[in-house]
Amino acid sequence: MMKALLLNGSPRRGGNTEVLLDALAEGVRSAGGEVEMIRLAELRIAPCINCGGCDQTGICIIQDDAGGVYEKVDQSRRIVLASPIYFYGITAQAKAFVDRAQSSWSRKRIQQRKGEWRDDPHRLGFFVSVAATKGEKVFDGAELTAKYFFDAIGAAYGGALLFRGIEKRGDMEKDAAKLRQAVEFGRRIIA
Ligand SMILES: Cc1cc2nc3c(=O)[nH]c(=O)nc-3n(C[C@H](O)[C@H](O)[C@H](O)COP(=O)(O)O)c2cc1C
Repeated sequence: MMKALLLNGSPRRGGNTEVLLDALAEGVRSAGGEVEMIRLAELRIAPCINCGGCDQTGICIIQDDAGGVYEKVDQSRRIVLASPIYFYGITAQAKAFVDRAQSSWSRKRIQQRKGEWRDDPHRLGFFVSVAATKGEKVFDGAELTAKYFFDAIGAAYGGALLFRGIEKRGDMEKDAAKLRQAVEFGRRIIA
């Protein structure tokens, strides 16, 4: 069975990102897939300190909760990075996690040098986000971060689900049309 790993970067429990991911998860399940959702903000994930430890090994020297999540990332063929927009980027909690993909990036580069790297076209990454404002470029920075994250972990970019004008707790729940789109998105990423 195809499993989708949902990484929620919002610190708000029951917040808009979580409500959106719940709808997406419903879609995944209705298409016969399995879902695991992880709240990154509730884990102990230190930011990368550019120590160079992973340069030669592809393994991060920091021992905290990120390692376990990256094991799941490596084993998943559908990875959804979700975060509300904070100052035109993803949340600090999500960014700390993304930066730790530096060791995945190093590992990929090491394997590429040895000619051992194989792209897996079946591994797909998706970006899900909400923002309070309606600005045309409000998701641009965050989506670039997401795209480069998926590149580092060796997943092709499958696209994004982005909703503007979502600010207060409860805003997402109220928007039935957007939630239907999220269910559809969940179905589509598994199909
Ligand atoms: C620190 C902080 C920074 C934010 N920066 C932006 C921003 O730059 N642009 C925007 O449209 N919304 C911004 N927002 C609003 C959130 O994206 C919005 O409230 C979102 O719905 C929160 O999602 P959540 O409930 O999943 O946490 C910011 C919110 C916070 C707390």
